[in-house]
Amino acid sequence: MLQPHVLSVCHVLVLVLCLSAAEDFDWTKNHRGSFYYGTFPTGFSWGVGSSAYQTEGAWDKDGKGMSIWDVFTHKKGKVIYNETGDSSCEGYYKVKDDIALLKELKLNHYRFSISWPRIMPTGIKSDHVNEKGIKYYDDLINLLLENKITPIVTLYHWDLPQVLQERYGGWQNLSMIYYFNDYANLCFERFGNRVKYWITFNNPWSIAVEGYETGEHAPGMKLRGSGPYKAAHYIIKAHAKVWHTYDNQWRSKQKGMVGISLNGDWGEPVDITSQKDIEAAERYIQFYLGWFATPIFNGDYPQVMKDYIGRKSAQQGLGTSRLPSFSSQEKSYIKGTCDFLGIGHFTTRYITQKNFPASHGPSYFTDRDLAELVDPRWPDPGSEWLYSVPWGFRRLLNFVKTQYGNPMIYVTENGVSEKMTCTELCDDWRMQYFKEYINEMLKAIKDGVNVKGYTAWSLLDKFEWDEGYSERFGLYYVDFRNKNKPRYPKASVQYYKRIISSNGFPSQKEAENWHRKAIETCSSSNQLLAADPLTSHMEMVTEIVVPTVCTLCILLSAIFLMFLLRRHN
Ligand code: BGC
Repeated sequence: MLQPHVLSVCHVLVLVLCLSAAEDFDWTKNHRGSFYYGTFPTGFSWGVGSSAYQTEGAWDKDGKGMSIWDVFTHKKGKVIYNETGDSSCEGYYKVKDDIALLKELKLNHYRFSISWPRIMPTGIKSDHVNEKGIKYYDDLINLLLENKITPIVTLYHWDLPQVLQERYGGWQNLSMIYYFNDYANLCFERFGNRVKYWITFNNPWSIAVEGYETGEHAPGMKLRGSGPYKAAHYIIKAHAKVWHTYDNQWRSKQKGMVGISLNGDWGEPVDITSQKDIEAAERYIQFYLGWFATPIFNGDYPQVMKDYIGRKSAQQGLGTSRLPSFSSQEKSYIKGTCDFLGIGHFTTRYITQKNFPASHGPSYFTDRDLAELVDPRWPDPGSEWLYSVPWGFRRLLNFVKTQYGNPMIYVTENGVSEKMTCTELCDDWRMQYFKEYINEMLKAIKDGVNVKGYTAWSLLDKFEWDEGYSERFGLYYVDFRNKNKPRYPKASVQYYKRIISSNGFPSQKEAENWHRKAIETCSSSNQLLAADPLTSHMEMVTEIVVPTVCTLCILLSAIFLMFLLRRHN
């Protein structure tokens, strides 16, 4: 039996542990402060991002197989105006042009994704490896390196090979782990001598929730309250497997890193003095970022997810929780499988407690027992869900630091859209968004958060999933009406370029100057774009009218000649 003094020591230890856990993130401390003038640490990496399906086009060219997004977008009613990524920005044919844009920005890195079905048409290695697809990525990587731009490569930005969906049910099936591992292994083998930053999955929250709960994204399934948890479970295991593959087979030779890119909106308690609101806000974040980050950093799902989903499942008469569980072997296999953490962040919500009775039926959203609110004063120039709330970014980064042991972070996505389709390239609000969000990131670094790089989302206007082309996130405007898909710089190109060349914000005077100059240059780009219909008209003249007229002339001459010959005979 334990002696009483041993028991009391244990008691104190438990108390200390509890207290230190409670001290992890201070919800009540939210000093927003004023703008911070200063610079980023030397070597801080600046970049922009894109993804394969959103920009490449060439959906059926050079031996590419179909992805779930090809099939989804070709069904009516899935995407606004039934638009597709069939040609999108034609990025597949414009590697050189796009690298010139990256050079213009003087970037350190470029984040892009590999389309799995472009290099493995069925998704299965033993079926076929498409060398033309490999060559496309080879050329892209080589050109980036020649221009001293570091490639950060995402293996999975949502475009699962359709064959894997049809044959196995996609991420509802355990076998995806093995197919994904084969695919990743091939990428390490073929590109790993040059690529040193690998991201396994982009935003798995979206894959799980929008792909398998709401069905707004491919593959469009509505398996409420169970599908998303199952998909996430296999994605986490697949991520861990790929990390181990790299660790065992490639790391010592290639000396690269493998991470994952997780998205998280910030959730701020509506009432900072209410314990219930604080708990609800924490639940919001644990069900979002924590769902994936906690297993990867700490070995298991957040306790609060296990409690809430477990309890609701029991109330719904289920024998086991809808949230799958990891065996202890799996927990230790998954824990620590992240060399760096990619963070995608766009916006913030206010959160308050709200009970949803289990009788509402299973659903990821009601499992959380909370309500999301927004402040009507927050600017929201573009996507319906995207409010500009810069201070939320600093809060999120500090939360990551405290929860997951201050990991190395690369911000993999941050940016804002606009809904306008006219030729307005003077994107004042985007400059403001970048200025303030980047500044909050700088403050977070001063707080001690280990952020090593920042990726503005995105290089180009592109296919925005179920929103089609109606929302534009690009630093560069793409004229989708013109079949050549010309790119035009928005004012934010100039502004971001200045932030990069100064490695931050040296002084108020300079930052104001940048803004003024950017507005000046965008007016002239506006004129160029306004002249675009004229250019397209001229192209039509050379491409259609001239050949047609020539053919007609030849035909007429032939007829005339025949007529003359007949008369002569
Ligand atoms: C996705 C991007 C998308 C962005 C804005 C992110 O979560 O990864 O592909 O463009 O959201 O919708």
